[in-house]
Amino acid sequence: MTDSERGEWREEIRAAIRGPDFRRATFGGIVRGNGSLWKRVVVRPVSVRDQVQLQFSYFDERKDVTKNAAGEEAEIRLDEVLAAGFSAVHVSTARETLDVRITKKGKAIVGRGKAVAEDGVELSHNREKNLLLPEGRADRLLQTMGIMTGEGKIRASMRGKFAQINEFLKQLSHVLEDAGLGSLGREIVLMDCGCGASYLTLAAHHYLGEVLHLPAKILGVDVNDEVIRKSIERSKSLNAEGLEFACGPIEAFDAKPDVVVALHACDTATDDAIARAIRSEAKLLLSVPCCHHHFNERIAAEGPAVPLKPILRHGILRERMADLATDAFRAAILRIMGYRAEIVEFVSQEHTARNLLIRAVRTGRVGDPNAVAEYRAMRDFWRETPYLESLLGAAFQSLINQSH
Ligand SMILES: C[S@@+](CC[C@H](N)C(=O)[O-])C[C@H]1O[C@@H](n2cnc3c(N)ncnc32)[C@H](O)[C@@H]1O
Repeated sequence: MTDSERGEWREEIRAAIRGPDFRRATFGGIVRGNGSLWKRVVVRPVSVRDQVQLQFSYFDERKDVTKNAAGEEAEIRLDEVLAAGFSAVHVSTARETLDVRITKKGKAIVGRGKAVAEDGVELSHNREKNLLLPEGRADRLLQTMGIMTGEGKIRASMRGKFAQINEFLKQLSHVLEDAGLGSLGREIVLMDCGCGASYLTLAAHHYLGEVLHLPAKILGVDVNDEVIRKSIERSKSLNAEGLEFACGPIEAFDAKPDVVVALHACDTATDDAIARAIRSEAKLLLSVPCCHHHFNERIAAEGPAVPLKPILRHGILRERMADLATDAFRAAILRIMGYRAEIVEFVSQEHTARNLLIRAVRTGRVGDPNAVAEYRAMRDFWRETPYLESLLGAAFQSLINQSH
């Protein structure tokens, strides 16, 4: 650790972020002064239409906002973050890590270390492996998935799917340590619910095993036997170990996953996935819901909801209202069942209109009275029992009635 001259550390950080080896920077710790409304900011490089840009993710208690920026806008955003008063900054590049602590008196203590992956594995030998899913060079996994051509180009029709699975992996990497998955001391069990053609299943298998070198058992389940047959074929052609597929409804499997993922599992299949996570006390749930027919078919502008008649009269507004309410109920139930649940934007609307992610990390604090009160109030307002509540049954109902 060395003391840095006043302000000099900012230039070191800026140089690391602007350099070709930059991987990730986290600004956090205590926020001193009035510099920031955010509790944490993460910066990383992203490739947008073949141009490297900086992605700024701003976090507070309730939400996160992500902005990609290039050129002058990137510089302005970087200046803002550097001036925001964060007391702890961690930057990793492919060559080294840089840690800066700012004391109460404004003194900067700078430490440098070897490059490490998110799981603590040294990277200096193989930088390529740290990429999530690569673009611009031939990749067997992406080609087997049918996402990439033999020449290493992402197929135009698969760009949306490519963006979704890459973002999913980034989300997984964000919360992996937070959920205690990097140090389980045994293999991580991950279940992909409604895995379809297994894009995400294969990508998660690749990321945990090949990139992070974490032992993992991955299970993809789907009701459609044709997609399961194809998924088994794909995993065989990749010689993928620790990867299994099974045909059947999510609720029929009594696996006890540590991680439950679901990408666009239809309608109430998302609820089945969430129920699976809750019942198994999974450490992490990442779910991007799809259509929400169940609640839409039941809500009515009655009782306390009468003033919402002008909204519920129009099909499209009603649908969006049902989407919002369903996901809010899901997050509220997760909170009650001992999860820190957040709903964040997943990928931009250009890739999919179904672009919200429910991200839930288990805390174990079950039955929080505030969460119960909020949930009951919303349920009373809509006069409708969410499907997820019905799925969880007596165990959940006694919890919310008990705390009343
Ligand atoms: C829109 S696709 C998404 C597939 C995949 N996750 C992806 O993003 O590419 C939804 C999948 O969920 C499956 N599914 C729907 N309900 C299910 C259930 N209850 N149990 C298992 N799979 C289900 C469907 O067969 C379908 O393959």
